[in-house]
Amino acid sequence: MASRGAGGRVLAALLALSSVLVLALQGAAAKPLVPAMFVFGDSLVDVGNNNHLANCNANCRANYRRYGVDLPCHSPTGRFSNGYNLADQLAQQLGFPESPPPFLSLPPEASQSHVSLDTGINFASGGAGLLERTGRSVCGEVVTMAAQVRNFTSLARAWMRENRTAADLIARSLFFISVGSNDLFEYSDAPPAPNNRNDTQFLQDLVASYAGYVKELYGVGAKKFSVVSPSLVGCCPSQRKIAHDDPKDVDKYGCLGTANNLSRQLQPMVASMLHDLSLELPGMNYSLGDAVGMAEWVFKSPSTPAYNFTELVTACCGKGEFGADGCDSTALLCQNRSNYVFWDRYHPTEAASAVTANQLFVDTGFFVHPINVQQLA
Ligand SMILES: *[C@@H]1O[C@H](CO)[C@@H](O)[C@H](O)[C@H]1NC(C)=O
Ligand SMILES: *[C@@H]1O[C@H](CO)[C@@H](O)[C@H](O)[C@H]1NC(C)=O
Ligand SMILES: *[C@@H]1O[C@H](CO)[C@@H](O)[C@H](O)[C@H]1NC(C)=O
Ligand SMILES: *[C@@H]1O[C@H](CO)[C@@H](O)[C@H](O)[C@H]1NC(C)=O
Ligand SMILES: *[C@@H]1O[C@H](CO)[C@@H](O)[C@H](O)[C@H]1NC(C)=O
Ligand SMILES: *[C@@H]1O[C@H](CO)[C@@H](O)[C@H](O)[C@H]1NC(C)=O
Ligand SMILES: *[C@@H]1O[C@H](CO)[C@@H](O)[C@H](O)[C@H]1NC(C)=O
Repeated sequence: MASRGAGGRVLAALLALSSVLVLALQGAAAKPLVPAMFVFGDSLVDVGNNNHLANCNANCRANYRRYGVDLPCHSPTGRFSNGYNLADQLAQQLGFPESPPPFLSLPPEASQSHVSLDTGINFASGGAGLLERTGRSVCGEVVTMAAQVRNFTSLARAWMRENRTAADLIARSLFFISVGSNDLFEYSDAPPAPNNRNDTQFLQDLVASYAGYVKELYGVGAKKFSVVSPSLVGCCPSQRKIAHDDPKDVDKYGCLGTANNLSRQLQPMVASMLHDLSLELPGMNYSLGDAVGMAEWVFKSPSTPAYNFTELVTACCGKGEFGADGCDSTALLCQNRSNYVFWDRYHPTEAASAVTANQLFVDTGFFVHPINVQQLA
């Protein structure tokens, strides 16, 4: 225990120091560290794509009051948070003002022009998962990972036909992927019948899909991948409530044990998938963030100089026990958002995403391997 505490202090000191350095660097150089950033995944990084899907249900959109309350515009934008999400905050670490724009907000002629290469594009869609079926029944309509990747590859081919510098810009750009939580949610909420259930097979299928997407992106010239594995999905307020109602399945954090076990098993599988791909695909580099490890760090030491979480359990915006019954314009809104880990029943606050974004950028071998995003960039 003592060594864990000391580790926490060292980490916190590192964090504080590196944030100062990053700010200093950004102040000095206005130019971002990569030419562009391309984002793929789910609601942790969606910046408004779902607002453009005609058949996407209200529960998979964040286009109403309460969402976006801490953004500079204080209005909903489709981000599933009180403020900037993980994609925005990683973009800011790289020197961009925020995430690149949502793909579905761009007029076709703008996205097809290689000018979109100047900042990048965000393809992420809330509710999407690694599997093609994930999100369909919950959300009605999502942009699946396969479609997100195909939307990028067809643009990339057009850009490369149009301009000879496009291939070089793609190779130097950052490809940021945060996906997998929705596959785990759907599986743990509605598991296959016990005689049909094989968690290993399910997780292997997820990882095989993941490898396929990375290869498709590499196939049109992507080289630099920043990936975040799913966090402890059993700890978000919605799953915590399920655990509370079924005490047989509660883990040491008071979270849903089966869901968290899936996250824990998936993390090393994603790590070895990426390691194997980097040996197979010449010039591919990656940085993998272990979101399970980061979540445990926060749960074990909720307050450090780098962050001050006092509420690890209940959603800032939400009705009912743990705030698990949903955030809308009539739900309670907490006052001190930076002290809450969870914004709504599924999503972190801006403050919690900031911890992840900062770690992805500066971590020196604690939760990010084999290199951090700053080194990757
Ligand atoms: C994105 O990809 C999907 C699936 O391939 C396709 O249906 C859709 O038309 C694409 N969107 C755009 C704007 O190209
Ligand atoms: C190709 O792209 C580069 C970098 O964006 C730009 O400077 C150049 O003008 C473009 N060339 C053409 C022919 O569009
Ligand atoms: C579960 O799937 C794995 C991977 O396909 C397989 O090796 C294992 O035998 C399966 N387990 C059962 C109980 O069927
Ligand atoms: C989760 O995994 C731990 C360690 O492998 C095991 O002891 C525990 O029974 C599992 N819990 C559930 C709910 O599957
Ligand atoms: C990127 O990968 C190549 C091999 O594909 C390796 O030689 C190089 O050192 C890696 N770069 C970094 C920053 O790790
Ligand atoms: C957390 O609280 C401590 C003590 O009140 C303060 O010194 C520190 O600046 C706070 N950190 C953040 C990120 O707000
Ligand atoms: C919110 O802030 C107030 C005053 O700083 C403090 O007393 C209270 O404990 C905080 N609540 C939470 C949940 O952090």
